[in-house]
This record gives sequence, structure tokens and C-alpha cells, in this order.
Amino acid sequence: MSTSLVRALSRRLNDRFTHQLVADDDALLVLFRMLADAEENGEAQVFDAVADRLGPKLAALVRRHADDERRHIGLTRRALRLLHDRPELRDGRANLVEVVDTHMGGMLRGEGTDAELGRAYLLLYALERRMVAQLTQLERGLQGRRPELAAIVAEIRDDELKHIRWCQVVAWELMGADEASFRATRDEMVAVEARVYLGVTRQNLTALLDVGLRGMSLVERGFWRLAAWTMGRLPSLPVPDPDGVIAARTWEPPVARRPAHGSAWSMYVEQVS
Ligand SMILES: [Fe+2]
Ligand SMILES: [Fe+2]
Repeated sequence: MSTSLVRALSRRLNDRFTHQLVADDDALLVLFRMLADAEENGEAQVFDAVADRLGPKLAALVRRHADDERRHIGLTRRALRLLHDRPELRDGRANLVEVVDTHMGGMLRGEGTDAELGRAYLLLYALERRMVAQLTQLERGLQGRRPELAAIVAEIRDDELKHIRWCQVVAWELMGADEASFRATRDEMVAVEARVYLGVTRQNLTALLDVGLRGMSLVERGFWRLAAWTMGRLPSLPVPDPDGVIAARTWEPPVARRPAHGSAWSMYVEQVS
């Protein structure tokens, strides 16, 4: 089967799944709990450590990023209140940053050399891409049905979209690496995130199916149980990017000899403006 066919099929199946999910308040509540967990992931430490090692302009960008993430915690809590949060439905965990960090030996704690922190920052880049893809999918499902929730999801997604580029620029500055090793590390971190993501998704998909998803037929439920089982056993698809929004935020490091330390800010401004 061709890759584009697999992608088209996967998009159809995901749209159908999302449609059923947003029609079921219990499943939505579990999903927003997962989102809240993902936002309350303790990234703050890495932001502080990174800001201290950068010049004032990039440090300000890192602090804006940290502020955005703090605001996201408030937004997901507001969504939970709208859904009448109930403790008995606090199933599932999407604390991806923490899980990925465990796999990477704790580098998100903000310790280590500048180059190591740069690698950690490229892991954040991979996570931001994933959030954009998932929130875009969720927002599409919520539009028209749950406008207040759709607005919350869109607000978070729009921030994460900016963070995709910020993470790359900051990582470039910290790593001090040449263009080829920057790209290789970026690819490596995308692969690490994808591997770990499958494990977390298997767990979360199972939690959502356990909650109910009342509109779903037995056949479909069986399909998704099977899909959960295959996660980690079959190769994963790349992060979906149907409108090219993620690709548009890919930051191109300079191909020529690496310019002087401290030049990432001006290169960032050039590409953004
Ligand atoms: Fe966030
Ligand atoms: Fe973010």
C-alpha cells in the first residue's frame, strides 16, 4: 500500500474517531485530563536553565515560551471545569515530556552542558510538533459542537505552533553544532519522541475505549483495540501535517560555516519577518 494511501486512510480513521470522541462527554473529559497532564509536565526547570545560558533576546523568547506553557495549564483547567471534571474519570496519562525525559536520562532537568541542553530542546521541538498535530485534529472535531472548548484548543495550538520554531532556534544557539549535526540531532529527537509517543498513546487509547465512546460499534471498538495493540510493534507514521503548518515552521540553519556565537537571534528575525 502506498504511503499516501496509508496517510489518507489514517486521516479518515482519525477523523471518525475524533467525531465519536467529541460526542461523548466522558471520553472528552478523559482526553482533556490527558492534555492537562501534558501541559503540567514540569518543563519549567529546563526553561530557567536555558534562559540563564543565552543572550538577552533569546532568553526573553524562552521566558515567553515558559509564560505560554503556564497559561496553557490555566486553559486546560478551564476546559475541565466546562466538562464538569469528575475525579473518578481521571484515567490515562499523557505526560509525554516526563516519559520521554526518563528515556533520555533526565536531561530535561536542565543539567548538563549547553550541547546537551540543546539536544533536550530539540526533544521539546518534537513534542511541540506532536501537540500541534493533535490539537489541530481535536479542534476540527470540536468546531460547531463545542465552541468554547474549540476556542481553548485553538489558543493553545497557536502558541505551540510558534514554539516549534523557537525551540529550533534556541537549540541551534545552545548546541554550537554545524548544520549537518543539528539536522541529524533534530531527526534523532523526532524518532525518539515517536517511539515513546506510541507507548503513551497505546495506554491513552485503551483508557478512552475503557471509558465508553458510546457511539462506537463493536467492530470499530475491536479495530481500535487492535490498533492500540500494534502500537510499538509496527513502524509509526510521521506526525500528520495535512495543511503544512508544521513544515512551514521548520527552521533552516545556515549551510555555510557556523556564524559567531550569539547570531541565532538575528537569523531567527530574518526568517520570521
Ligand atoms: Fe503547551
Ligand atoms: Fe509549547
